[in-house]
Amino acid sequence: MTLPAFSRPTPSDMRRSMGRFTTGVAVVSAEDSDGEPCGMTISSLTSVSLDPAIILVSLTHGSRTTEAVEAGGRFAVSILSSRQEAVARRFATRGGARFEGLPCDRTACGLPVVADALAHLECTVHSAHDIGDHRVFYGDVSELRWRDGTGLVFYSGRFGDFRDFGHDEVPWLF
Ligand SMILES: Cc1cc2nc3c(=O)[nH]c(=O)nc-3n(C[C@H](O)[C@H](O)[C@H](O)COP(=O)(O)O)c2cc1C
Repeated sequence: MTLPAFSRPTPSDMRRSMGRFTTGVAVVSAEDSDGEPCGMTISSLTSVSLDPAIILVSLTHGSRTTEAVEAGGRFAVSILSSRQEAVARRFATRGGARFEGLPCDRTACGLPVVADALAHLECTVHSAHDIGDHRVFYGDVSELRWRDGTGLVFYSGRFGDFRDFGHDEVPWLF
């Protein structure tokens, strides 16, 4: 199928184009000023530096989670497994206490994380920048843990899972 002509980016064109970039899915979480856990689903998770360990997340302005990360200077990330699509949907739906009734753990410094995720990272904010309609937070990773499993993926507005072809070698673990 051929590509259409180039056009100037509208927000919905940006969603559709960037939706062609398959990503993993994570929940970024924090505690708000009342000590209540909050969080939101994200795909804008990037490993920026291995040593020192630094990641980035890009969070929309006006979100309760964005405000909590800004105010508390800390955040946690739960990388979701393919069995956690319902969690991804819950944390992307407006309103409600998203952690209520959900199995959750705490990081060493007490941040809430989603239980049974594939990996948990606890971060202190290294720096942050407003870029367009989002605020980008760089996080110094203070603690992490991971397990094997199948990752939840997002492509073109749909959830799916990563198909592991079971090669013995892992050549791209750079
Ligand atoms: C797969 C997926 C990935 C998302 N990635 C991001 C993201 O990286 N940054 C962001 O600000 N919102 C992202 N969102 C949207 C938020 O999860 C959603 O707007 C959420 O309701 C925001 O929290 P709030 O309602 O507390 O503002 C994503 C949603 C989905 C379903």
